Amino acid sequence: MITFEGVEKVYESGGQKVHALNGIDLHVDKGEIYGVIGFSGAGKSTLIRCVNFLEKPTAGKVFVGGRDLMSLSKAEIRAVKRKIGMVFQHFNLLNSKTIFANVAEPLALVKTPKAEIKQKVTELLHFVGDEATSALDPQTTGDILKLLKRVNEQYNITILLITHEMNVAKEICDKVAVIEKGRIIESGSVFDVFSAPETETAKSFVKSAIDHEIPESIQKLNVKHLYQLQFVGESSGKPFLSQVAKRFDVEVNILHGTITELQGIPFGSMTVELQGEDGEIGRSLEYIRRENIRIREV
Ligand SMILES: Nc1ncnc2c1ncn2[C@@H]1O[C@H](COP(=O)(O)OP(=O)(O)OP(=O)(O)O)[C@@H](O)[C@H]1O
Ligand SMILES: [Mg+2]
Repeated sequence: MITFEGVEKVYESGGQKVHALNGIDLHVDKGEIYGVIGFSGAGKSTLIRCVNFLEKPTAGKVFVGGRDLMSLSKAEIRAVKRKIGMVFQHFNLLNSKTIFANVAEPLALVKTPKAEIKQKVTELLHFVGDEATSALDPQTTGDILKLLKRVNEQYNITILLITHEMNVAKEICDKVAVIEKGRIIESGSVFDVFSAPETETAKSFVKSAIDHEIPESIQKLNVKHLYQLQFVGESSGKPFLSQVAKRFDVEVNILHGTITELQGIPFGSMTVELQGEDGEIGRSLEYIRRENIRIREV
């Protein structure tokens, strides 16, 4: 469990003050995978460095496993740090050593007995499988994400993940926060943020993972009654468009659509043209709304 309470971080560099974190409140439950997304310079690294005390907040509190890091002695901080793993985007392995030795190194550094090291490393390498040998290949990002998910599920390990890539967040996170200029400007379940991003920044990130934009060629068609319908979960399985065509005196023309899955729930959007008299179109839209489908006139 990780909790940030009103965390501020001010760097002083060359007589200038840089406000890297501006009052961060964030709560990550035990066993949760929480993604922090933001553009370069938003404060992501600073935030994560406050979790393992590589940086001390200028103000506010950081709790790890329920303990206020500021109140701990140096020895206690070392003990907490041992329970925190950092996976860097560009991690370094010791080339001259075997995979076994690389995994054993941190345990040896904290003077773990040899027999215990052997048992622990064998268990971990067995868990990881052969992937450990190929982990340096960028194509294996997907494999690493799957591995993180397995670590999270099997050992109930809490993960705070920082990224620029919405696809990464979409793949494995339970919740996400969007950070900008040291502030969390939007947060929630992956489903909520991806299906209805509120801020422009969140929208632009979501767009890179789910493209619900209507192609220009379709926008140019000069269609009179063009609607974007967003459907979620249960409503995705319903033949609502054929129902509309049957129940009302309208023609339905499907122009564009995408369906994806968020946290195991289908989520999609469809752009349709409705042809018919205004009254019939109005009644069709009412019916669609009652089916819990969001409508946006284009
Ligand atoms: N040691 C430092 N001294 C002075 N300023 C710093 C220091 N570290 C970070 N900053 C500044 O704090 C702000 C937040 O930086 P941070 O590295 O946390 O951003 P980030 O979101 O991780 O960016 P990136 O995506 O590029 O890694 C930036 O304006 C950065 O220039
Ligand atoms: Mg960074």
